[in-house]
Order: sequence, then structure tokens, then C-alpha cells
Amino acid sequence: MSIDIRKQLIKALSDADGEFLSGQALAEKIGCSRTAIWKHIEELRKDGFVLEAVRNKGYKIVNTPEDLTESEILFGLETDRFGRYIHFYESVESTQKEAHRLAYEGAPEGTIVVSEEQRKGRGRLGRDWSSLPQRGIWMSMIVRPDLPPQKAPQFTLITAVAAANAIDDVTGLYPEIKWPNDILINGKKVVGILTELQAEADKISSLIIGVGMNVNHGRDDFPESVRKTATSLSIEKGNQVSRAKVIQAFLKHFEKYYQLYLEKGFAPIKILWETYAVSIGKVIAATTVTGKIVGRALGITENGVLLVEDETGTVHEVYSADIELSDF
Ligand code: BTN
Repeated sequence: MSIDIRKQLIKALSDADGEFLSGQALAEKIGCSRTAIWKHIEELRKDGFVLEAVRNKGYKIVNTPEDLTESEILFGLETDRFGRYIHFYESVESTQKEAHRLAYEGAPEGTIVVSEEQRKGRGRLGRDWSSLPQRGIWMSMIVRPDLPPQKAPQFTLITAVAAANAIDDVTGLYPEIKWPNDILINGKKVVGILTELQAEADKISSLIIGVGMNVNHGRDDFPESVRKTATSLSIEKGNQVSRAKVIQAFLKHFEKYYQLYLEKGFAPIKILWETYAVSIGKVIAATTVTGKIVGRALGITENGVLLVEDETGTVHEVYSADIELSDF
């Protein structure tokens, strides 16, 4: 079965927006035979798509599968580049590791790696990231901006804004960003972002941006160590949430904000980020590699660096840290 015909078929049915498309029209659009269209329609049905077929009218998709599949991500995807190349796995060690390999082999910008399960998901600062099958979004994305490596941290913030916006769109929940890269709902972590870099001395070759989102976890799905501090969209919302829809919304917002960033720089992203930021103006404790800074978070700089003013009035620039929001 040609993957290309299948992708084009999903795109055509998805662009039709609920209207019927005839086998003939689809065959002409895609440049294949009607028999090929029919075979691919049958394949989509086997994958759990519900298609209505009406004589003299054609086909339309009336429901998409429960399981996360490559086809489901593509159906309804509104981007030009991001998510157009999908490497989908049932189980991998880490999507970051796969994306690093693909980037190294020259995979184009916008390539995403998605897995139902990660056996060794990676968090920041060398921590593990629990990635149960069927529950979450475990995804890494390849981005190739023509920029120096110092700009890489800004991409964590672009990603956080896109993820917060996607959650807001799909669920109506109110996500907040805790600097630099955690997304919280009602004070508990629902998304983690891990930005890694492949670079030459003065130029990024690729950024591997990993997004881990707890979507359909029940409370017992979390390891004991994070049960008090982690949550999922379905726990907060009270019903199951479509992972494909969240991925689509995320990719759409990421593509848009990335373009905005390339055209206008970091300033508009900073404003968006601040609208979601929970830590700004609050007293926080920032644990860095060199020690702990307690003070008021003043905001972020044009480079996405956190400014913290301690009780002596000294303003610290925090590049990387674990942040605790506190009532000190
Ligand atoms: C954090 O520590 O907050 C960052 C967590 C990032 C987890 C994601 S899941 C997809 C991608 N693959 C990984 O192994 N890690 C990232």
C-alpha cells in the first residue's frame, strides 16, 4: 500500500470538511485509480476510521479511531510543515533518541516522532519521564532554525506557549506556565518540555524538542513519586481527551508562533508567554547548579532568561533551574 496515496486521501477527506467526495474526484485529485482509492478506504476502516459511503455521492469520514495512529494525526492537521513527516512507533526507548538519529540523518524540519509508549522516557536534568502506553503524548519534533545555539532556550518558551494554547483550545482548561518549561493545571504538572541541540560552533543544525503531555491518565497511572504533583488533562477535565486533536492544535500553534518568531523576533513570544506565566511577580526558590536563589521573579529577558530579585535587591539572571513556587 502506498503511504503517499493514503496520506493524500486523508488530507483530501479532511479538507472536504464533512462533505462527500466521490471515488472519481478522489482518484483524479490524487492521480491514482478508483480501485486504489477503494483499497485505501478499506485500509482506513481497518484502522478504525468510520467512513460513510453513499452511492453517487462518495465518501466522508464520520469518526476517527480511539487509538493514536499516524492517520489520525494527519486527519484534520492544519499545518504546512510541522507533522507532515511522522515517524510513529508503538514503543521506543525515547522519542528524543529517535529524533536525534533522524535529525543526524538529515530528516527535514517539521518531522515528528510519536510513540504510544516510551520505555526510557527522558526528563530534564537526567530524570526519568514516565510514559505509559495509550495515556499520553510522547513526541519529539525536529526544528532547524538558521540561528546561533544561544537562541535554543527561546524555543522552549515558544513550545510552552504553543502547548498551553493547544490545551486551552481543545479542553477549555486554564493552563499556566512555570518557567521555563512546565505547564501546570490547578498547580499540578501536565506537560514537560525538553529542548536538546545538535549544533556547530556558531549555528544550530537542529533542535530536538520533546513534549511529554499527560492526557488520559487516571491518578493511579502516575508513579508514587509524582502522584501529588502531576495531573492529566482527563483528570482535570473529567472526561477523555483526544490525543490526536491536542497534537494537531499544538503543531498548528507551534508552526504559527515559530513563523512569528522568525519574522518579528522574541518580543511577541515574550508577551504571549507572560500571559500564561504563573511564576512572574511571585516569590520563588530557584535551585541552580551553583545553589539556591530565593526571591521575587521579575520577568524574563528578551532571551528568555528568568530575572529573580533577592531580598538584598540583587537581580540574578537564571538560565537553568528547578523552580518552586512558594509562600515564603
Ligand atoms: C521534563 O523533565 O519536564 C521534560 C520532560 C520531557 C518528556 C518528553 S516525552 C517525549 C520526549 N521523549 C523523551 O524521552 N522525553 C521527551
